[in-house]
Amino acid sequence: MWKIVLLAALAVVAALELSAPARHEMHPTRAIEPVQFHRGVNILGYDPLWTNPQKARFQARHFTDIRNGGFDFVRVNLFVFRHLDAQNRIDPKWLKRLDWVVANATKAGLGVILDEHDFGTCSNDVATCRVKLPAVWRQLSQRYRSQPPTVAFELLNEPHGRLDSETWNAMIPGLLSIVRATNPTRTVIIGPTHWYSLSDLPALSLPPNDRNITVTFHYYGPYRFTHQGASWSKLKDLRGVTWGSRSDREGLRDNFDKVGAWARNERRPILLGEFGTYDKGGTPIAMRADYIGAVACEAGRHGFGWAYWQFDGNFIVWDMSRDTWVRPIKDALINRRPSTTAC
Ligand code: BGC
Repeated sequence: MWKIVLLAALAVVAALELSAPARHEMHPTRAIEPVQFHRGVNILGYDPLWTNPQKARFQARHFTDIRNGGFDFVRVNLFVFRHLDAQNRIDPKWLKRLDWVVANATKAGLGVILDEHDFGTCSNDVATCRVKLPAVWRQLSQRYRSQPPTVAFELLNEPHGRLDSETWNAMIPGLLSIVRATNPTRTVIIGPTHWYSLSDLPALSLPPNDRNITVTFHYYGPYRFTHQGASWSKLKDLRGVTWGSRSDREGLRDNFDKVGAWARNERRPILLGEFGTYDKGGTPIAMRADYIGAVACEAGRHGFGWAYWQFDGNFIVWDMSRDTWVRPIKDALINRRPSTTAC
């Protein structure tokens, strides 16, 4: 008798297994998660390291601080165009510095995203971009082809302006084929136009057969809150914009739900590659931390990886002068328990 019961039980288990949907479909509110990149921070975009290593603010030990702080990857912001010669060859000295970054981050146990950050030139001068961006990726993909899968390539930060969706979509296959020639399965990160706006996700066109693409977006909404006081944002004189009301939180959730729905439909993993609030605009740090924690939580709730903008410089999560974390920001990012229902 017990044998019959056991067989029946096994049959039920087998039937359940067979009818079980794919993993991502079992969590109807979550997208497919990016493989290597969960909790990260943007680094080195504006550090003297690239031009004068003696003056570098960022040191090798910071990779360990980042890893021990609970992050698992860094997004390295690279302005490669200014290090190209007349034949568009990358300066070998600059490449050595990048080798150092990749090696030390990897040694510290961090994933590395090489983010081509020449969004200004590319968006103003498409003709130059069409020549320089492929030249950069031909060289970087060749050089880093043997790196572990924890290293990913991000084709171009925040296309905007003249790089509209038609122009950007037309450039993607060419750039991808350059990378794929030497890196057939490496994670490549690509985002939509209008500064990686989530509203432009539906206009992003990707080769359906390439399943090693992670789609990225940036989130600084509401911009008047996150960028108040920031000179480059035209909000230099703005002060006193608050965040935290019920409708603020609903707005955040609705926006992330839209990205989640798009991702599930397209079956693409998502990376929120930048978010944060300007640190010198007079916004109380507790309010900034509340916002930052809520955004990280929304990303976690949807299964998106995220990278905070940024480690050092402005918006900081690390205080170079005190040589330690900016606690409220760091705690908002790392120590906040992700909620499965609301943030
Ligand atoms: C830019 C930075 C800017 C940040 C927030 C980044 O993509 O590279 O210059 O501070 O966005 O506005």
